[in-house]
Amino acid sequence: MKHLIKTALIASILAIIFLVILIQDDQEVLIESAESKAPSNGPVYNQIKWFSSKDKDVWMMNQSHYGLNAPKKEWERLAIVIDKTTSPKTAKYFQLGSGKLEWQEGLAKQSYRVSCYMCHSNGPRVIRPNYASSLRKVSLWDKAKITYWNLRIKFYGRVIPHPDHKREDANLEVPFRWRSSFENQVLNVKSCTSCHKDFGFLARGTLKRQHILTIKFMLREGHMPPFGFSISESDKKLINQFIGGL
Ligand code: HEC
Ligand code: HEC
Repeated sequence: MKHLIKTALIASILAIIFLVILIQDDQEVLIESAESKAPSNGPVYNQIKWFSSKDKDVWMMNQSHYGLNAPKKEWERLAIVIDKTTSPKTAKYFQLGSGKLEWQEGLAKQSYRVSCYMCHSNGPRVIRPNYASSLRKVSLWDKAKITYWNLRIKFYGRVIPHPDHKREDANLEVPFRWRSSFENQVLNVKSCTSCHKDFGFLARGTLKRQHILTIKFMLREGHMPPFGFSISESDKKLINQFIGGL
């Protein structure tokens, strides 16, 4: 009986937290990223904010490669804008001057420091904090928020880069996505292409050679294939060959 009351209590607290998250707009989280590392292999801190309107979702992020106490101008400001009116949805990627996580149309774009598409093959990425971070613990409240946001991110389904990126890319020094045919070779392995394909049920976009860093991270950490799916031995071999450049 006592156990039941405790479970019911925890369930209601969680339900209240989710409700508050749903009602409150303009939330932020600040995490140490599990995936992104500074060139020195040091921690990367991401402060992420989400704004939603009927037609559009905006994800903004301030990112520090120099610790939590880095001066504000050292934090890189990035944004992804999702157009929810098209099918599939489209995403526009912005490198912005340093500043607050406040979105408005017409913010001045800067040159990309790195090609976003290397890691963002399908729009916003599921947020994965380093739970072992010594400087940035994740509160229960933040965990609930991240869980809810990650559901939103997964439920976008297929998200393609906005057509503008293709037009602009030709003239960029650091392109939005790498252009060579080698960098664009597709990971053609059944255990992955059941979802990582461009069209159809569960489609999440083909994975290309330029996504190798992210592919390696997802495999190493056991995030892919997702829970309940497996990789055959022969597919493992093929993936390793692909990662090795074959
Ligand atoms: C090396 C991989 C990598 C590259 C390159 C990269 N990102 Fe990300 N980005 C991530 C990961 C991973 C997350 C999810 C947060 C986390 O777990 O650290 C993320 C999160 C974000 C978010 C917060 C919303 C979300 O997706 O969860 C924005 C906005 C963002 N990135 C913008 C950009 C832009 C714009 C570029 C190109 C200038 C870029 N990113 C390049 C890995 C990358
Ligand atoms: C059942 C469908 C499914 C299968 C099979 C699958 N994935 Fe994924 N994959 C997803 C979903 C959904 C996401 C986004 C959610 C997440 O990050 O957990 C994702 C995310 C990824 C990402 C990050 C880019 C993105 O789309 O957000 C990579 C890289 C990736 N998967 C690699 C792989 C590899 C490699 C395999 C094969 C070994 C694989 N996946 C098999 C569904 C799948």
